[in-house]
Amino acid sequence: MTVQPQASPVDNEVGGTLGKRLTTFARSPLFHGDAQVLHDSNPYRRMLVPDSVAESDFTLPPRADQWSTHRSLVAHRLLGTFYEADTVLLPEQGLADLHDDFDLFYGPGLRRIRETSVSELERFAFDCLDDAVDVSGAGTTEILDAYFQHVVTAAANGPSPALTAIAEARDREAAADLYLVQLALDGLTEASAMSRNLAGAYGPEQSALFKIFIDEFGYGVYDAKHTTIFAKMLRSRRMATHVHAYWNFYLGGPLATNNYYYYLSRDHAKFFRYAGAVTYAEAVFAPAFVQMVKVFRNIFGDSVDLHYCDEHAHIDEHHGRITREQVLLALADRHGSRVVPELLRGIAEARLIGGWFEDDTAAQIRWADDLARHRELAGAASIAVAPPLRTVLREGHPFGTRNHDGAMVLEIERGEADLVTTPTGPPERLERGDRVLIPAGRLYGVRSVAPESVCLLHPVLTGG
Ligand SMILES: [Fe+2]
Ligand SMILES: [Fe+2]
Repeated sequence: MTVQPQASPVDNEVGGTLGKRLTTFARSPLFHGDAQVLHDSNPYRRMLVPDSVAESDFTLPPRADQWSTHRSLVAHRLLGTFYEADTVLLPEQGLADLHDDFDLFYGPGLRRIRETSVSELERFAFDCLDDAVDVSGAGTTEILDAYFQHVVTAAANGPSPALTAIAEARDREAAADLYLVQLALDGLTEASAMSRNLAGAYGPEQSALFKIFIDEFGYGVYDAKHTTIFAKMLRSRRMATHVHAYWNFYLGGPLATNNYYYYLSRDHAKFFRYAGAVTYAEAVFAPAFVQMVKVFRNIFGDSVDLHYCDEHAHIDEHHGRITREQVLLALADRHGSRVVPELLRGIAEARLIGGWFEDDTAAQIRWADDLARHRELAGAASIAVAPPLRTVLREGHPFGTRNHDGAMVLEIERGEADLVTTPTGPPERLERGDRVLIPAGRLYGVRSVAPESVCLLHPVLTGG
């Protein structure tokens, strides 16, 4: 008699609704989180907060102005994990005792869910861009270039909301670190999405893109690879450098920005859109890093290693030129007016999503930097009469972060807990009876410091 292997819950979940499949995915032991706020050096484990995946409505795609909603954050955490499972991640210290996690992360169970869900999840996360961007009337290379020059000049001259928030923060060091963490999402795996556009045969434009790619990879010299010099910058701030130590602190806007380039690179029907987006990104990086150097030098003096920013301020001027001349305009000339709207769409979408990155980071810095005021605001807020959401937290429970679609008042009913809102700033200790307002969209986590704490969430009435 042969014994049939038992199907695991993961095997059973290839059908069903998108929400069901994603919840099954998030319930994998890899994604339960642990008691620590930062993740260990294990690139396969990341807290997906399975209960918050289960409560998300995946039949209601967020609109372009709803990037800070809870379901958008959940979707982009999942999508980012899906995309990274298509790249090679190995821990610096060697697999040692992580072979089982490696097998699980890349194995057939989770892979099947990813493959049956990724397109649907992408539509959920990014379909909003279709209506948010209008490319009608974009038919010639001249129009394309004029639009490109216009938006790049605007970006170079305009203030960065996130850098402004850092400069104005009370705790500028914690604010700057929070910004670095958002950059780490891409910085620690830089140019991974780009690598998917290198294969095939598409003439001189392919070689131009490859030139940029090998710069990002330090021409094959590990010490010069952008990811390596990004890690140096983190180290100079005494921050962790592994993928993804700060997973719990990635905001929805930066996650969406990072995912956007993977999304375009996974489907070559969107190749021209990718070319537009990457041209925009390369062109705006140089002036952005010049601004970042100013702000960071001001705060940290010489104690921070900004080689990464200096390198980009320099090389992305060059990359901006190559992508414009040898990729964007060259593709438009070679392939004709039919590809122009797609090239332009990529520029416009990258610009829009870049705004989500900035606005989300700025809002998180402002909130985390002024919790005293949000304690006062909690006192003044009108809260719903309905019973609040009650959560029991135990010391040592897995730690995760989340946000809410509407403002909430968080109250400690019993015990004592830390409210965690930044990766390196001190947590806010909340005692029994303490209340703090959590604005809509803001990311936070709560850790019990008593053996058991009870926290309440009161929805704030609109206008309250
Ligand atoms: Fe780079
Ligand atoms: Fe670059």
